[in-house]
Amino acid sequence: LKISELKIRFHLELADVFNENERNGMWKYVMDFVFKISSTQLFIEPNLAVSHDTKQVFDTLIVRLKNKEPIQYITGSAYFYESVFRVNPFVLIPRPETEELVSNVLKSIQKKGCRILDIGTGSGCIAVSIKKARQDAELTAVDISEAALDVATQNAEKICGTQSVNFILTDVLSADFGNLFENKLDIIVSNPPYIPINEKPQLAENVLQFEPHLALFCENDPLLFYRAIALHSLTLLTSGGLIFFEIHENFGHHILKLLKDLNFENVQLIKDFQGKDRMVKATKNYDKKTT
Ligand SMILES: C[S@@+](CC[C@H](N)C(=O)[O-])C[C@H]1O[C@@H](n2cnc3c(N)ncnc32)[C@H](O)[C@@H]1O
Repeated sequence: LKISELKIRFHLELADVFNENERNGMWKYVMDFVFKISSTQLFIEPNLAVSHDTKQVFDTLIVRLKNKEPIQYITGSAYFYESVFRVNPFVLIPRPETEELVSNVLKSIQKKGCRILDIGTGSGCIAVSIKKARQDAELTAVDISEAALDVATQNAEKICGTQSVNFILTDVLSADFGNLFENKLDIIVSNPPYIPINEKPQLAENVLQFEPHLALFCENDPLLFYRAIALHSLTLLTSGGLIFFEIHENFGHHILKLLKDLNFENVQLIKDFQGKDRMVKATKNYDKKTT
């Protein structure tokens, strides 16, 4: 069978389940990770045929997609910030909003050798992308999930080289979290679990059924992780150090207040490409009492 024929079948079979935009996005994964061929190559050889084995992989993929399983878990790969990250159901699939968070962190780096901590690293997408762009930076990334850290470690090795990021298995909600760090940090970045459990019924079926609940939900306190991280930041950050959070669009103003109450300065709510309140940036103040 020719790839061009399979492409027609792909769109026909999935037309009832996904819109054209979604199908086009998924087709790129099929080309890269099932057929392992570039669009240029296909353009040059439009009659390229696939082997029997590849055709079987393709057939299974169609069945799994109809079942709403994310293509990133089926192919084990996710595009994020100019790299391909390995993913499995123990890690959240990296989202485009988080690419904006990475880009904001990178824009704010003022000096060489910046010390950066990523809390709740999952696939490692934030820490690894920062390290890839700023090799001089010193990256530490933590997660409570050992399975997630396995994936993150593989991604760091593949994308930036061995020991490029220092990974630590730990619980950010534990009182002694701060003891893990000897030196002050310049930037703390986090995309923590932020969906209150009572919003479970509103979540898309594919997210609820396939993505790790440990990465999504924060019981019924939407500020749980933000409060813990902000409090730790008071001692962990240098004066003038920065916090970057990815947030739930409904809780931006609560998070701003939380940070202002803790004396953070330049507390800003930043919108994502869709115009939703999606990030918060704040500076630790220069007050001697908290340095
Ligand atoms: C929303 S996911 C973000 C993953 C990744 N940073 C990203 O942006 O795609 C939150 C991550 O926090 C981790 N996590 C949940 N509870 C935690 C805790 N108490 N301490 C540390 N990490 C935790 C989860 O395992 C998950 O990997």
